[in-house]
Amino acid sequence: MSKLIICNHKMNLSRSDAKVLTKQMLESDLTLDNIIVCPSFINLDEFHTNELGAQDCSGEDCGAFTGSVSPKHLKEIGVKYVILGHHERSFYETPQMVRKKVSGALRNRLIPIVCIGETIEQKELLKTATVIKNSIIKIISKHEFNTGEPFIIAYEPTWAIGTKLYPPIEEINDVLNYIKKITKELNIPNVLTVYGGSVSTINAKEILLLDSCDGILLGEASLNINELKQIVGYSNM
Ligand code: PGA
Repeated sequence: MSKLIICNHKMNLSRSDAKVLTKQMLESDLTLDNIIVCPSFINLDEFHTNELGAQDCSGEDCGAFTGSVSPKHLKEIGVKYVILGHHERSFYETPQMVRKKVSGALRNRLIPIVCIGETIEQKELLKTATVIKNSIIKIISKHEFNTGEPFIIAYEPTWAIGTKLYPPIEEINDVLNYIKKITKELNIPNVLTVYGGSVSTINAKEILLLDSCDGILLGEASLNINELKQIVGYSNM
């Protein structure tokens, strides 16, 4: 099976830039089932793919929550995945809030892509495994809705996001295997493990070759058609 390529556009791409990227992706045959495109909310309808993801959602289906976006409404417009708990949102969200969002996503049959990872201070104190385990317990374990769909966990060391720094490949392998082990122990079924944080044409191939790795989450590299094309090529090897 081809490995997942999750494209997180973050708050990039104007409508016209999004139109250009969609056209380039169509022309390059990059609307494959393993490529999940997560544009900003206002660009969701620009990307013509079955594998569409949002970058956040509310834990509630509807109501008086100004500025929030309902998982139910995302589902209605054809969204299949939702990134939750991304580090760039951690200033506004506690793990408890992320847990509620995961629950909202599962209730509406959206596949959660939950981001977890250690800070540089935690890494230096050799706390990575503890942080990973605690995040899984707090955010992911014991949800009452089991959709039978995969549950995607993205290991994203916070210090690797947008910095061009990333852990040695063996460390990525160790953490992805650890996530598989812990989720198995906690009876969380169908977990797929992906790595994110400064993935580029330089490191994508060796990361994707890891048995423990079911895919990668791209930020910056997902905005550049040439880089994206090269990386997608590695996902089918
Ligand atoms: P980056 O972003 O690839 O630009 O480091 C990854 C992410 O934030 O998910």
